Amino acid sequence: MKRASVNRGLFLRNLLFLLVLSLSTTSACAQAARDYEPRVGQAGKDVVWVPTPDELVEKMLDLANVTASDYVIDLGSGDGRTVITAAKRGAQAHGIEYNPEMVELSKRNAAIEKISARATFAKEDLFESDFSKATVITMFLLPQINLKLRPKLLDLKPGTRIVSNSFTMGRRKSRGFGSWPKAN
Ligand SMILES: C[S@@+](CC[C@H](N)C(=O)[O-])C[C@H]1O[C@@H](n2cnc3c(N)ncnc32)[C@H](O)[C@@H]1O
Repeated sequence: MKRASVNRGLFLRNLLFLLVLSLSTTSACAQAARDYEPRVGQAGKDVVWVPTPDELVEKMLDLANVTASDYVIDLGSGDGRTVITAAKRGAQAHGIEYNPEMVELSKRNAAIEKISARATFAKEDLFESDFSKATVITMFLLPQINLKLRPKLLDLKPGTRIVSNSFTMGRRKSRGFGSWPKAN
């Protein structure tokens, strides 16, 4: 009888210890996620992360004439800056990003700006994602990735505007180029 109650006491003590351990591990993980800081040039699935400067984000959205009636999708959305800026212009905006930590960072950034309802993010491979709802596509990828994406982009609704930072899409004719920074 006495041994049974000692065993039960030991069992409860061990259970409590495991509970405390798991709670502190969970909160350490949550803290690590909040502290995540991306490095420029860090590896990505097909393209490394290099952020578009804020001023150029605005320029890209100007080039696409983004308005509140648009559905903007950024392919490889990084820290979410293009999506958040488009959402601040009133558009519905969505980011597709492969790196889950960047997706969480983007969601936190959108929450800080109180724009989460219009700026959404998904952890997806852009080659396997559906972006047919877009009226505007923004991207900062690489020439060979742009070419590989071309069939999907050509399948988009007529009138969809596509703005690519730095890289073209082969010989396809463009409606216009913007230069940045502006030449003096
Ligand atoms: C050059 S960064 C551009 C980030 C952001 N669009 C901007 O302009 O600031 C390219 C981004 O694409 C993401 N990426 C690379 N390959 C991807 C893939 N197959 N699917 C989704 N995202 C991808 C990288 O993780 C990185 O964040």
